Amino acid sequence: MKSIQIAIDGPASAGKSTIAKILANDLSFVYVDTGAMYRCVTLAVLEAGIDPADEQAVTKLLPELKITFKPGASEQQVFLNDNDVTEAIRTDRVAKNVSQVAAYAQVREAMTQLQRQIAKDNGVVMDGRDIGTTVLPDAAVKIFLIASVQERAERRYRENQAKGIDTQTSLADLKKAIEERDYLDSHREISPLKKASDAVELDTTGLSIEQVVDKAKEIIAQKLN
Ligand code: DC
Repeated sequence: MKSIQIAIDGPASAGKSTIAKILANDLSFVYVDTGAMYRCVTLAVLEAGIDPADEQAVTKLLPELKITFKPGASEQQVFLNDNDVTEAIRTDRVAKNVSQVAAYAQVREAMTQLQRQIAKDNGVVMDGRDIGTTVLPDAAVKIFLIASVQERAERRYRENQAKGIDTQTSLADLKKAIEERDYLDSHREISPLKKASDAVELDTTGLSIEQVVDKAKEIIAQKLN
């Protein structure tokens, strides 16, 4: 089981991380949240006072960044240069700028390298936008998770309220931000958000977490048999 790779791709707030975490836990695989990596780069850019539109300055910052994950009590903790940024990478400010930063060639190259390195030594459930198409094209299982924009915005809204992050942001604003991010992520030049030709699409609209996990497990069992 050591080198089995499960790729979960899809648009923002489709439930990728929730499902990927449960699957990784049940299979005793390592969960890799690749969106968190792009969010870390974006946070570092903003904290350094760099304009996210300045590709050269963003690229120059890359060698100074060390991104690591540690299993936490309730959720995985994310560290940027040994600082716990688990919550700091989830703010509106990071979310609004991450698509721009994630579109840069050298940012993608550095993150892809890091992601492949983790997958080389572990069974992984990796979630993102380009895992099935670019990062792990030979993954044994590829799932493309989707849900309606309305439902994704509602999920993000509930999550924000529960976690006390950006609680003032309205549902309408979240919906708009998700639509913008979908557009940018699927229209960028390098590794855009796209369903791999051999991925199985799973629409989670109206489904509970348990129902999605069950369906994902059916897909995994079929693919691994
Ligand atoms: O999954 P998320 O919302 O945390 O991802 C944040 C952003 O990172 C998303 O808008 C696009 C980018 N991303 C990417 O370009 N490639 C990935 N594999 C994962 C995320």
